[in-house]
Amino acid sequence: MNWKKLSELSKDRESEIVEAYMKPSYGIYIVSSAYGGKQSAYLANCVFQVSAFPPLFAVCSNHDNDTTAQIKASHRFAISVMTEGLTPEQITQYGYSHSNKINKFEGVEHTVEDGLPIVTENCNAWFLCRVVKAIDIGTHMMIIGSIDDYALSDTTVPPLTYDRYQKMKHGFSPKNSPTHIEPNKKKHTEEESPTKEKSKGKKMRCDVCGYVYDESDPEHEHTFDELSGEWVCPVCNASKDDFTEV
Ligand SMILES: Cc1cc2nc3c(=O)[nH]c(=O)nc-3n(C[C@H](O)[C@H](O)[C@H](O)COP(=O)(O)O)c2cc1C
Repeated sequence: MNWKKLSELSKDRESEIVEAYMKPSYGIYIVSSAYGGKQSAYLANCVFQVSAFPPLFAVCSNHDNDTTAQIKASHRFAISVMTEGLTPEQITQYGYSHSNKINKFEGVEHTVEDGLPIVTENCNAWFLCRVVKAIDIGTHMMIIGSIDDYALSDTTVPPLTYDRYQKMKHGFSPKNSPTHIEPNKKKHTEEESPTKEKSKGKKMRCDVCGYVYDESDPEHEHTFDELSGEWVCPVCNASKDDFTEV
């Protein structure tokens, strides 16, 4: 087995660091909160158990998330553990839209516990948490919560890991995620390498979420140019103008 140390990296250094930074994996969660008659929720990968006794969770919540403001005001949040059933619609709704723009609970399977909305659709467990500590760590707040209540579903659908999310859902992390990486810092894959002959057709990458529209994908009947001006990114709803050729 070969290892590359940071100090030994010579060319394309930045993208190598980025590749290593993406190796730790997590699950996929929906973190929700409510305050002043408003409800909010966001998709998260940075959620983890940080203590056994007492059992505590930590979430890393971006300052720009509407949910962060509500957690800070209410001192409470909920965590839904998402399964492999997570739908593209859920990714778009919770991961790429703000709660002050859309109602993230309307028409969605959820429960309300002690005034807090909790998503139960494609979820195998949820936790109702009370903030015990919040630390400002740059772009994000690390918010630590004790558990007031929880529920476990009898679903047999496995929990979704972040690694699987990235591979299966062609998922990328947007700006507010702690693991967000600027698209131009991503390592060129062999397919994308400028030295290799390009496969048939163009590849267009969404500047907002990183989704790639690969014209050679048999699922796509149209070239990117043939798509109507109304067409939007299937992951984050960004417009055609937000795409750049890779
Ligand atoms: C796969 C994925 C993982 C994400 N992980 C986090 C995270 O751990 N922390 C965070 O603050 N935002 C994360 N985000 C971004 C938020 O989900 C996103 O900014 C959301 O629109 C915020 O919603 P809100 O403003 O209604 O709270 C992630 C998004 C995706 C798609």
